[in-house]
Amino acid sequence: MSKHSQTRRITAQNLIEKKRRGEKIISLTAYDYSTARILDKTGVVDFVLIGDSLGMVVLGYPDTLSVTMDDMLHHVKAVSRGTDRALVVADMPFMSVHVDFESAIRNAARMVQEGRANAVKLEGASALTLRLVRHLADIGIPVMGHLGFTPQSVQTFGGFKVQAKTLDSVRRLIEDALALQAAGAFALVLEMVPVEVAQLVSRLLAIPTIGIGAGPGCDGQILVIDDFIGKFPDFRPRFVRTYMETQQQLTQAVERYTEDIISGDFPNPLTEAFAFPADLLDGLRLLEAEYTSAETLEPSLSGV
Ligand code: KIV
Repeated sequence: MSKHSQTRRITAQNLIEKKRRGEKIISLTAYDYSTARILDKTGVVDFVLIGDSLGMVVLGYPDTLSVTMDDMLHHVKAVSRGTDRALVVADMPFMSVHVDFESAIRNAARMVQEGRANAVKLEGASALTLRLVRHLADIGIPVMGHLGFTPQSVQTFGGFKVQAKTLDSVRRLIEDALALQAAGAFALVLEMVPVEVAQLVSRLLAIPTIGIGAGPGCDGQILVIDDFIGKFPDFRPRFVRTYMETQQQLTQAVERYTEDIISGDFPNPLTEAFAFPADLLDGLRLLEAEYTSAETLEPSLSGV
């Protein structure tokens, strides 16, 4: 947050050390300042991810494919301003790191330079991605990998489907995970893979795995904040545990607000509004008399 803040920010290295000590890594997504601030102040959230899931839960797209660098940067900046303890990880959106090596580096660097992110996250383990991870790690931009169900490949997968359900695909997943680790990734998100597979990959890697729909064997867990607080109304994946019922509470709150306005209960003139200076009240009455005289009423009445 403040440039004068004394809080020490969690680093990518700290997350690797947590895995070594057998301590679970706690993370959630956030897309705005106030949510990030609340999560950061809990003092237990190790990293906050500005996921491209913002395309679905904040911007209302059916998937993450339409999210742009500008969309991401707008939210990465807000979340960075809201945190001074948690590591801030910025998701690289679809096509931002897939066109060519130079533009990929430039886009990742923008997340750090303009967005003030501490790390970036990339999906998959293509040759270009592995080369990029190596280069970013070399120039001091920590990279989190993401395997299993990678939402930017939803069209290839043919929907939101569990991955690594055959021995061949598990072998591929292991090879990709080891390649990302060798390239210098500091952590790996495993999304929608079977419990036993996530457990195996977590045992094989020295870097921490962060599970979402991957069971308890991962070194840490992440959930999309809107799912976590029951705010996303369109669907609720099986792997989500909802810790608050925001949709229901917000609906009830709007109903109560409406009743209070109609009944005149809200706003309370003494505690939820501002009083005019008492010594000027006589003057206010005179003004009223002046403006409610016949001549002043006439134009407005004739205009009805
Ligand atoms: O975009 C996102 O929020 C993510 C998490 C689901 C890991 O990638």
